[in-house]
Parts: sequence; structure tokens; C-alpha cells
Amino acid sequence: MSSEFSILGRGRAGRALASAWGPRAPLLPHTARPEGLVLLAVPDRAVAELAAAFPGRCVHLSGSLHLEGVPCAHPLTSFDGEARDWSGTPLALSGDVPEGIRRAFADLGFAAFELPPDLKPLYHAAAVLTSGHAATLWLGAEALLRERGVVLPGRGLWPLAEATLHNLERHGAGGRTGPFVRGDEATIARDAAALPEAWRELFLGLGRLG
Ligand SMILES: NC(=O)c1ccc[n+]([C@@H]2O[C@H](COP(=O)([O-])OP(=O)(O)OC[C@H]3O[C@@H](n4cnc5c(N)ncnc54)[C@H](OP(=O)(O)O)[C@@H]3O)[C@@H](O)[C@H]2O)c1
Repeated sequence: MSSEFSILGRGRAGRALASAWGPRAPLLPHTARPEGLVLLAVPDRAVAELAAAFPGRCVHLSGSLHLEGVPCAHPLTSFDGEARDWSGTPLALSGDVPEGIRRAFADLGFAAFELPPDLKPLYHAAAVLTSGHAATLWLGAEALLRERGVVLPGRGLWPLAEATLHNLERHGAGGRTGPFVRGDEATIARDAAALPEAWRELFLGLGRLG
């Protein structure tokens, strides 16, 4: 199969997508200057300068950044450099994304939708809350226990995290459990008092938001 477009940037997103697309989309360092259509898989801060080298023939992957005249296709996932099953994963399109790029993402199972450029920062903040911030909470919770010598057996906190995601996907807000949902104020006060101050504020603030 001949290549349809090139991917620039061999980071987590570039490697994962290149691995899934195979020969239709060769993976190149960001310093390469290939002919034809280019997908920029570089840090957001590098997109504007690199896009200027491919006027009218590049697409970037940043969910937050909007550049006039440079279309974007943002996969709403967390890449680790490996190909995965992305069926049903939203793909936010902004600007005039070429048909070849749309088709390539659709072939991997992504579900495209049009996102107005002015809503990109809000959309991306929601993505950060769902992914990076959730990761910070889970890793932080594990560290708090470890620091006090509590090492959970088996798969640790993961079964709880997985059950929570499963319940939310199935039941929406009705799938949320815990003392804030039940209104168990004495439990909330006791648990909050056991936490270091920064975590206590987060614990109470997030709990009251729900
Ligand atoms: N990671 C995700 O889960 C994810 C999800 C959705 C969207 N995105 C978007 O995808 C894009 C890439 O993210 P990433 O997580 O793959 O980044 P990354 O893992 O940090 O890799 C980016 C790659 O860009 C190149 N690069 C590094 N510094 C550069 C610079 N100063 N100028 C130009 N190129 C540079 C490097 O590749 P070479 O050594 O090959 O040049 C590097 O491996 C970003 O716009 C991000 O918002 C990421």
C-alpha cells in the first residue's frame, strides 16, 4: 500500500497512530519535510511553528489549540504509543480536515464530530479532568496509603476504579456511590480529618461539587 500522508513526531500519539495505520502513514521525526499531506503529532507549543512549514497541507492533533487555517483532528483518548481498539472514541474535528485524514481515523473506529473552535479550551479542560486529573487522584490515593504502610493486596485500587467507571457508564450520575451521595456527614468529617490539608480541600471540594 502506498502512503496517504505522513505523521511528524514519534511521541505517544504519533507512534500509536502510525502503528495502527501501518504503511499508509509513515512516521517521521519532526525535523523531516515530506511532500504531501502531514499530520503533526508534536507538543502543542511546537504546532504553530511547524504548521508554517506545511501551508495548506497539514492537520494537528491539539484538542485545546486553534490556529486559523490549520485544521485539527483531536482523538479523545490517552495514547501510550501502542495501537489499541479505539472503537467509539470521539474525534473532534475543527476546520477543514481533509477527507483522507477523516477516513483514516474512521477506519480505526474513531467517531468524528465537528467542534466549534471557540469551544476547544472548554472541551480540552473536560478531557484533562477526565484523564490527567483522574490519574492524579488515583495515584495520589495509592501514595497516601503507601506512605502509612498500607499495601493493598491483589490488584489494589484498580477494581474499585474499574467498578466506578462501569457504574457511571451504565447509570450516569445515578451510578455514583460514597458518603457524599448518601449524605453521611460524620463519615465525611472523619475521612477528611485523616487527610493532609491539600488533599482535604480537594476531598471536600470535589465531594460538594457532585
Ligand atoms: N498523548 C495523548 O494521549 C494525546 C491524545 C490526544 C491528542 N494528543 C495531541 O497529540 C500531540 C502530540 O502529543 P504526544 O503526547 O504524542 O507528545 P509527546 O509524546 O511529547 O511526543 C511529541 C513528539 O514531538 C517531537 N517533539 C518533541 N519536542 C519537539 C519540539 N520542541 N518541536 C517539535 N517537535 C518536537 C518528538 O518527536 P521526534 O523526536 O520524532 O521529532 C516527540 O516524540 C499534541 O498536540 C497532543 O495535544 C495527545
